[in-house]
Amino acid sequence: MGRFDDRSAIVTGGALGIGAGCARRLAADGASVLIVDINEEAGTNTVREIRASGGNAELMVGNVAETAIATGMVDNAMSRFGRLDLLIQNAYGGGADNIGSAVEVKPAAWQSGMDLLVGTLYLGAKYAVPAMEESGPDPNYIPAPWTGAGRRHGSPPTRNVGRIVNMASVHGILQAPRSLIYEAGKAAAIGLTRQMAIDFGPLGITVNAVAPGHIVTERGNAMWNEVGNDAGFRLFELHYPVRRTGEPEDIANAVGFLCSNEASFITGQVLTVDGGMTIQLQENIVMDSKDYIVANPDLRTHFDVGRGSSRF
Ligand SMILES: NC(=O)c1ccc[n+]([C@@H]2O[C@H](COP(=O)([O-])OP(=O)(O)OC[C@H]3O[C@@H](n4cnc5c(N)ncnc54)[C@H](O)[C@@H]3O)[C@@H](O)[C@H]2O)c1
Repeated sequence: MGRFDDRSAIVTGGALGIGAGCARRLAADGASVLIVDINEEAGTNTVREIRASGGNAELMVGNVAETAIATGMVDNAMSRFGRLDLLIQNAYGGGADNIGSAVEVKPAAWQSGMDLLVGTLYLGAKYAVPAMEESGPDPNYIPAPWTGAGRRHGSPPTRNVGRIVNMASVHGILQAPRSLIYEAGKAAAIGLTRQMAIDFGPLGITVNAVAPGHIVTERGNAMWNEVGNDAGFRLFELHYPVRRTGEPEDIANAVGFLCSNEASFITGQVLTVDGGMTIQLQENIVMDSKDYIVANPDLRTHFDVGRGSSRF
């Protein structure tokens, strides 16, 4: 039996990258997955791939920043799968107008950035939580018989009704220069996650965030190919204690755990999945880079192709 058999999930931004990894993971473990994404072609391919592996997936094309899509995706999951249990809020696609300090960023970019980074998390939960309540707890959950001391008295509260996982970032914990919209949005995603955990815990719904480090997705891979210099990527990897950057599956595994019944006592947390990158003393990283840069004077990074925000 899969751990998500008879359960259903919505994954926003599930056509590509981390979201596609999450959709594959949840479907492989038995969930029926509704991918909601603006990219129809990539979404169709991911759905086809999941079905070819024996999973159950559907695609809904739409922008999750629109209220009609947020309500529509919940209605869609309920009518197609008969219930809703898991909501993975992952969609994001920032443009160049998102880069800048408070002085540089235009009001319209600020508004649309906040709508996508924060507003979508509110909208998704607003419509998904009542559907999760209506669906009830995991139909396959059998509580383990209690054998130890200290058992609580009375009937246990309802658990395993629903799971919400919001995709934050290490950028919600540490700040990069000239990244006001993204950093503020991801920090807000963490605050919103904690608030929702308090509000929905009594319903048996846990709400957690995952904060990935650098994950090489299809888009990230294309960016590093554009850089065309392995030494630059290697320098990037050297900043990670595990000496590699992440893959969508690394994040999908964390999301799978937080969605599982084993995680029913974990809520309001930020699980940082970054190979240890953010636990280091920053000064040492810079000093340790020196020898590598001296030995590779021609190295180029994504900043050299205009993809970094923090030229200072
Ligand atoms: N890749 C990383 O290194 C990294 C690191 C930390 C956090 N994150 C976060 O993880 C999430 C996924 O990032 P990714 O790198 O996989 O991105 P990606 O660009 O590879 O995939 C994002 C997906 O979201 C979809 N999307 C974008 N805007 C949408 C919208 N308004 N409505 C519906 N779908 C939309 C895109 O079409 C795409 O399929 C984002 O929230 C991102 O901030 C990524």
